[in-house]
Amino acid sequence: MRRIGFVGAGFIAKVHMENLSEIDDVEIAGVMEPDDKRAGEVIENYGAKRFNSLKDMKDAGIDAVYITSPNRTHFNFAREAVQLGMDVFVEKPMTISLKDARELEDAVSKAGVIFQVGHNRRFAYVYKFIKEKIDSGEVKPHSFQIKMNRGELQVPSWVSDRSFTGGFLFETTLHLFDMMRYLFGDVDEMYVLGKRSVYSDYDDWAIAVKMKSGVIGTFVSSAHTSWMVPFERVEVYGEHKMLANDEMERVSYSVGDKLEAIVESKDFSKVDFRKKWGYLEEDKLFVKALKREVAPPVTVHDGVKVIEIVDACYKAVERKDPHIKFEWEG
Ligand SMILES: NC(=O)c1ccc[n+]([C@@H]2O[C@H](COP(=O)([O-])OP(=O)(O)OC[C@H]3O[C@@H](n4cnc5c(N)ncnc54)[C@H](O)[C@@H]3O)[C@@H](O)[C@H]2O)c1
Repeated sequence: MRRIGFVGAGFIAKVHMENLSEIDDVEIAGVMEPDDKRAGEVIENYGAKRFNSLKDMKDAGIDAVYITSPNRTHFNFAREAVQLGMDVFVEKPMTISLKDARELEDAVSKAGVIFQVGHNRRFAYVYKFIKEKIDSGEVKPHSFQIKMNRGELQVPSWVSDRSFTGGFLFETTLHLFDMMRYLFGDVDEMYVLGKRSVYSDYDDWAIAVKMKSGVIGTFVSSAHTSWMVPFERVEVYGEHKMLANDEMERVSYSVGDKLEAIVESKDFSKVDFRKKWGYLEEDKLFVKALKREVAPPVTVHDGVKVIEIVDACYKAVERKDPHIKFEWEG
């Protein structure tokens, strides 16, 4: 039985807790949470104990922790947990600076602990469909178009505060930067345009991308679009083949060069969001990783790589030079 603790007991923590309660061999044993009501719910629902520090959790025999507190707290908690020798699942963004992300990667490598980052999109049904078509060779991508929008930067109140979130790109946009890497490999070059249109944070981004694989694409992210769907969409263009999703609800695939295109679609709108958005599978895989049965599917290195992309975008707008050429390791 693995005893698991939580740092933060808000929305996403509850999703993970519900998942873990359906998985064998794990127990939600501890919670660190400043809000009494939220901490109380975890104690009542799962029989967990409340703690004030990671050290106390560790001393109580809890040797794996979910970090599900706000973005800017992730780095310190994750580094401390790793240094205590705890296995860690950290929600995205892993950190809100590239320097911290790299320091965390070093700490994980020294400690040799299990470390997984919450890029749940990789396990969402729509993206698994797209990934399988690409990995099987059925669709060879030549180009793509990605968008990741949101309706406003008002709710919750801190969402437009860059010192809290790291910046708009560290929010949901980050998920699709990770998806871009997952589907097409590492980025070679980007031409980044970003501006502040409605809010004080950079809230409009238009990016042209060339991947090391030669695949090219565009990536758009706006924070003020209204909540008209779809605000999340990936389109992949192969040779007379196209894949596209609408949110994490539907995915479509079409083959051929005739006007009478036949489109195959899968609709997951009736499926529980914990499954179709990938949360259940990522938690199952984390538990398997805790048992040393599999390697963590989203590594600290993946966490660093996606933050390199975000960091490059902010550097491009701040130094007013849109062109970014990446130096990637071999
Ligand atoms: N992977 C995803 O799809 C996904 C979805 C939602 C949120 N997230 C990420 O998860 C994190 C939490 O988001 P949320 O929506 O659950 O937020 P939330 O506000 O609902 O929950 C955060 C919780 O952390 C607690 N907290 C604040 N400071 C703390 C501290 N110092 N120590 C311990 N607990 C503390 C808060 O009281 C709150 O209960 C964010 O980083 C967010 O980006 C990821």
